Amino acid sequence: MTDDNLRILVLGSGGREHTLAKICSQSPLVEKVAVAPGNGGMVAEFETFPIGVEDNEAIIGLAKEEGFDLVVVGPEVPLCNGAVDALNAVGILAYGPNESAARLEGSKAFSKDFFARHAIPTAKYGNFSDVEKALEYLGTCSFPIVVKASGLAAGKGVLICQTLEEAEAAARDMLAGSSFGESGREVVIEEFLDGEEASLHLICSGESYLALPMSQDHKKVGEGDQGLNTGGMGAYAPTRLVSPKMLRDYEETIVRPTLSGLKAEGIEFRGTLYVGLMLTADGPKVLEFNVRFGDPETQVILPLLADDLVPLLLASARGDELPEKVNFKDASAMVVVLASAGYPESYPKGEPISVPEVLPDGSQLIHAGTKLNESGKLVTAGGRVLGAVGIGATLREAKEKANELCESVHFDSKYFRRDIGRREFSRP
Ligand code: AMP
Ligand code: GLY
Repeated sequence: MTDDNLRILVLGSGGREHTLAKICSQSPLVEKVAVAPGNGGMVAEFETFPIGVEDNEAIIGLAKEEGFDLVVVGPEVPLCNGAVDALNAVGILAYGPNESAARLEGSKAFSKDFFARHAIPTAKYGNFSDVEKALEYLGTCSFPIVVKASGLAAGKGVLICQTLEEAEAAARDMLAGSSFGESGREVVIEEFLDGEEASLHLICSGESYLALPMSQDHKKVGEGDQGLNTGGMGAYAPTRLVSPKMLRDYEETIVRPTLSGLKAEGIEFRGTLYVGLMLTADGPKVLEFNVRFGDPETQVILPLLADDLVPLLLASARGDELPEKVNFKDASAMVVVLASAGYPESYPKGEPISVPEVLPDGSQLIHAGTKLNESGKLVTAGGRVLGAVGIGATLREAKEKANELCESVHFDSKYFRRDIGRREFSRP
């Protein structure tokens, strides 16, 4: 295979995948980008195929039939379900970690033990499958304390408990009840960390890696970071919270020990490593590892890349050395998520959406929970509906563009946070 006229399939249906598909399609190496299953907004730009991301047979069948050269796997579920292993087994290149490496996200208990084995800074913790042992441990803890379902829970399996009673109820519901199903059969109980959060994304290929600009997500549903945790209500990059020197320190204390530790354990990490950090008074601590691009962080990180993304994805998928350096634009980006009011709990679906026909320069409307109804009209189909992205010379300019776009999109239950970037704007 020569690296031109490439046919790329992006697997997934959210804002992250819409962004990946857009960026890949800008590469001069690419002939065609398609998405499976995609969403209502992607159909206008890309061919879409209605297959389930958990169906490895269907993914292989589609990739073979359509002659895709590279499959970019967006979400964690197919990664943890061995989609990359299955594609590689039939000779198709895929971007993302294999099933074994994906356990860093698929099992929080596995990743916490991995941190402990390799002295990676993280919150003190215990892993439990037995309810009595969990309750006994809770009796020794100070509060607040954090109770986490170990398995995948779409960002919702983390409960910050203020009292012993709350924590006992959370552990019981997960271990002995049915909250979070199989994902809650094991729990991590960990120390509550206080500080500001930051997301570090790395494109990895074994021990070689490239760090992307540091970003900050806004996980809480309400303004002022109040209310329930969500998948993310908005993000921006880069952030001044992390200086270049701090980033170099994270590479020494977190990134290199992780990639070499994995190698020593027989795991070669290919794909995106997303390090969720809490910057505490005692230094940076890893909150979690994800094994894919963040959503909505992707919407602000990838547009800042000045170089072609596709050769990086190919090198990682092949296990080749990555270039020593990539170039980023001297710009800032912000995404404001347009959600359906009620998210992350219950919210209406099927509401007609109107979007502007022409977008101003430096604005992008990224589709997430959208679909076309029977009459071909664009309607809401999820909690996080759209991402309004602004890119500008400064973060203020990026925010103005994102906000303008938020105002020009309409659906009845439209809800968005107006304070994305609040911490960055208040830094001295
Ligand atoms: P996780 O999926 O483990 O990253 O957790 C989701 C979110 O819960 C994080 O982004 C934090 O906002 C919060 N969180 C998780 N663990 C802790 C902790 N130990 N202390 C404080 N907040 C936490
Ligand atoms: N924005 C958080 C995540 O993608 O996990």
